[in-house]
Amino acid sequence: MRALLCRAWGAVDGLEVAESDAPRPGPGQVLIEVRATAVNYADAIMVGGTYQTKPPLPFSPGLETAGTVLAIGEGVTRVAPGDRVMALLHYGGMAEQALADAADTWRIPDGMGWRDAAAFPVAYFSSDVALRWAGRLEAGETLLVLGAAGGVGLTAVEIGKAMGARVIAAASTAEKLAAARDHGADELINYASEDLKTRMREVTGERGADVCFDPVGGDLFDAALSSLGWGGRYVHVGFVGGVPQVPANRLLVKNRAALGSALRYYRWHAPDKLATSVAALLGWYGEGRLRPLVTHELPLERGVEALQLLTQRRAHGRVLVVPGAPL
Ligand SMILES: NC(=O)c1ccc[n+]([C@@H]2O[C@H](COP(=O)([O-])OP(=O)(O)OC[C@H]3O[C@@H](n4cnc5c(N)ncnc54)[C@H](OP(=O)(O)O)[C@@H]3O)[C@@H](O)[C@H]2O)c1
Repeated sequence: MRALLCRAWGAVDGLEVAESDAPRPGPGQVLIEVRATAVNYADAIMVGGTYQTKPPLPFSPGLETAGTVLAIGEGVTRVAPGDRVMALLHYGGMAEQALADAADTWRIPDGMGWRDAAAFPVAYFSSDVALRWAGRLEAGETLLVLGAAGGVGLTAVEIGKAMGARVIAAASTAEKLAAARDHGADELINYASEDLKTRMREVTGERGADVCFDPVGGDLFDAALSSLGWGGRYVHVGFVGGVPQVPANRLLVKNRAALGSALRYYRWHAPDKLATSVAALLGWYGEGRLRPLVTHELPLERGVEALQLLTQRRAHGRVLVVPGAPL
């Protein structure tokens, strides 16, 4: 099969398309013929060799996929050959075939096309577990989303609205903010041209936000923490802008909490909570309340370019890599 291969740790431009042995499903595994795989920022971190998972070289990046089940391993009853599925992967989605654990595989509902299915698992699942279980976001509360047009950011905007929150979307360009507005954001802040702390005070008054969803970190952290009101919850999802250090005194004075949320650990430590999140998400999708935004669909040969859209901060919504016929 053809695969986008990482042969050495480094920048994503070192990846190349080459022939590779097709994987075989072991016990509890599912072999999927890939229709489309969404690119995640974490793919670039994995290729750089600094992600939590460091696969043996060579490997293909790709943390999720949508496709058709080709074969199942011993003991798999959750899906069957021929099923259309979406799946979370350890890696390997940017290839013509990929292996998933059966437990991380979901049948694609009728009425959900390949495009939406490919864009769905990592972004929506991650944002939902972060807001539902870590942030404990409630209807009527105010949610600040940083990086609000990115992969997880835009889904956090939609999920925040579906949960009944007032959503403040913060991003770096007018185009990204327009996407957040289109997906339900109530208020917009351009943190490249406006002072986040000042604008948050204008938008929320003395009350501040109840929850901050942060996939960015870095320089935005200080202002975002200051913008949390009494009892506010700061949810760390990622740190593309740098790893922030949390000053405990500023948590104490307003009874704030700072929490981490990583989808991968829900898969292993709280599968019941993840199942609740997935059921809620698919319910909202069926009601038309979630609308995955796919802005690019590139063939496997342009996989490096797909990843660079994220690493160069040029993407919004989801970027898909399509190994076979266009969707
Ligand atoms: N914890 C979890 O379960 C989980 C799940 C998925 C992803 N993540 C993490 O969340 C982060 C975002 O992932 P993603 O796939 O959503 O990425 P993405 O689509 O590229 O979105 C990241 C956003 O961050 C902003 N940003 C700020 N500084 C940036 C920089 N130096 N380079 C690139 N983007 C920058 C960009 O928006 P502006 O230009 O508007 O600032 C961009 O839209 C990553 O750290 C990823 O590992 C965590």
